[in-house]
Amino acid sequence: MSGAALFGIILVVSTVVAAGAIIAIASRRSDSEGSVTSAELDRKAAKADRDRRKAMAAAAPADAPPAKLVPAPIEFEDDAPRQEVTASEFGVTRRKFFNRAVGAIFGLYLLQFALAGLAFFWPKLKGGFGTPISAGALDALKAEVVDGARLVPKFIPAAQSWVVPFPMSSLPGSSFEATPFVVAGGESDGIGLMALWQRCVHLGCRVPSCESSQGFECPCHGSKYNGHGEYSAGPAPRNLDRFAVSVDAAGEFIIETGTVVQTARAKHYTIAYPQGPFCVG
Ligand code: FES
Repeated sequence: MSGAALFGIILVVSTVVAAGAIIAIASRRSDSEGSVTSAELDRKAAKADRDRRKAMAAAAPADAPPAKLVPAPIEFEDDAPRQEVTASEFGVTRRKFFNRAVGAIFGLYLLQFALAGLAFFWPKLKGGFGTPISAGALDALKAEVVDGARLVPKFIPAAQSWVVPFPMSSLPGSSFEATPFVVAGGESDGIGLMALWQRCVHLGCRVPSCESSQGFECPCHGSKYNGHGEYSAGPAPRNLDRFAVSVDAAGEFIIETGTVVQTARAKHYTIAYPQGPFCVG
């Protein structure tokens, strides 16, 4: 499932949940609206207080100080038995409604945060970048990336990697001697494959290959790397990063995109560079 599709699903689910929460709150509120409202009670109480004040003022001597109004016992207009109304029976007040609405909105944001987190980790759960990715059959890959004496790097989008050939005999003394797991598949013919991360180690631009120079040249600030991703020029602090690789039982070349290997600038290049004009000046 693509990221855009996943984002769309998250958006739809969030909207449905939000709509459901709002409808639920609104319906609870409307359920609570019966024949008695708080505004009506307030009006009745205010009128009763006014009447009592008038009666007290009429009964008191002219020079008496104003009497303090004390709560009067409740009198009903008929003798029907009265039942005390509980808070839950009275229903949802305006304050409760807003409290619940704020709670619902806050919960919605938490839900979206959780879904966004799930979307972030989803590729790892389903085998995207960050997990082992097959670049195809080893033999077919080798046939594609070598053309006589020239390199033809093959880009594997799912792994964000350039696959390049690497002679196993070049490993000793190279920048990769301590991390031989960055080359695989060279046991039979001495030619292994490497997977170079396309991301420039300077500031992260995508680095394209350059057919004429037989290397990789960053269009952002001009860092240059040879055909094995070894640093050659520019502001990049090290060689291109690469991934651990292996060949599985079915003969597929596997790029472990969860294992990034960094190596220092090469002291001894394992391939000549440049072999022709640069693509980036
Ligand atoms: S990002 Fe590649 S040289 Fe700066």
